[in-house]
Amino acid sequence: MSVVSTFCKKGGVGKSTFIGFLAHYYATQDKKVLIISADDQNSIFKIFGADDKIFESQDNFFEYLLTGQADLGDVLIEVRENLYLIKTLNTDQLSTRLTLERSQEKLIRNIIKEYTSYFDYVFVDFPPSSNRLSEILLELSDHIFVVVGLDSLGLGGFFNTIQYFIDRDIDLSGIKYIVPNGYSKNRRAPKISLDILQSQAADFTKDAVVLPPLQERSIIKNLQAEGISVFDDVVLERYDQGLKEALKKDLIELFKLINID
Ligand SMILES: Nc1ncnc2c1ncn2[C@@H]1O[C@H](COP(=O)(O)OP(=O)(O)OP(=O)(O)O)[C@@H](O)[C@H]1O
Ligand SMILES: [Mg+2]
Repeated sequence: MSVVSTFCKKGGVGKSTFIGFLAHYYATQDKKVLIISADDQNSIFKIFGADDKIFESQDNFFEYLLTGQADLGDVLIEVRENLYLIKTLNTDQLSTRLTLERSQEKLIRNIIKEYTSYFDYVFVDFPPSSNRLSEILLELSDHIFVVVGLDSLGLGGFFNTIQYFIDRDIDLSGIKYIVPNGYSKNRRAPKISLDILQSQAADFTKDAVVLPPLQERSIIKNLQAEGISVFDDVVLERYDQGLKEALKKDLIELFKLINID
């Protein structure tokens, strides 16, 4: 049904982490969810402990759909119940082809349209860099989440994101939510950054909802290092189970504020 994306022109701000959390949450609610990695790093796979799947097989990259060497089902990689990922190999090369051959662009649009009829949600995980593929996928997104790091570089990333939309003539009203990430009760800088972000968002993306900030939490990095998602029902051996449960509870509260239907 809907296409949902996380985007920001700044790297390492939590785009893949947030989309991974949100997608897995919906999958546990019996929704059928697909995440397309528009990032050649395919870092979304690591979040689900599925990095071995990136190069395990060479004939199921997204690009093979466009050359007709693979069908829609061939490139889906199941990482959890109801949750599928698609990996990309070289989006810059693909973007060059998209620029040179208009028919390829139509093909991409049709592929995404078909996936939206099979899945309840199609998520797209973007890299911070951009190319023609990113532009097309952003245009196709019904709900764009801009993830912003709560420090001065993060705020710069928000500004660059707005500028990028304006330069490329991408509709800013596609930005439905802003996700401030890296909040800490004990530090002043994230609080100041959050205030500035709220006022900038009111100026540039007045229809977007600024969500309550995600806390900076070491358990997020620790779980990712183990390839465990916060919505996996597992008993932790190395880390405090209470920290995982607290994160899960807070995320569910946050997700109740989101409507992507
Ligand atoms: N709230 C948080 N608290 C602690 N660590 C976090 C938090 N959010 C994200 N991280 C960590 O920050 C790192 C970068 O996150 P992530 O990969 O999601 O960012 P990204 O924006 O997708 O990066 P890229 O631009 O490279 O795609 C990861 O190690 C992740 O575990
Ligand atoms: Mg990422």
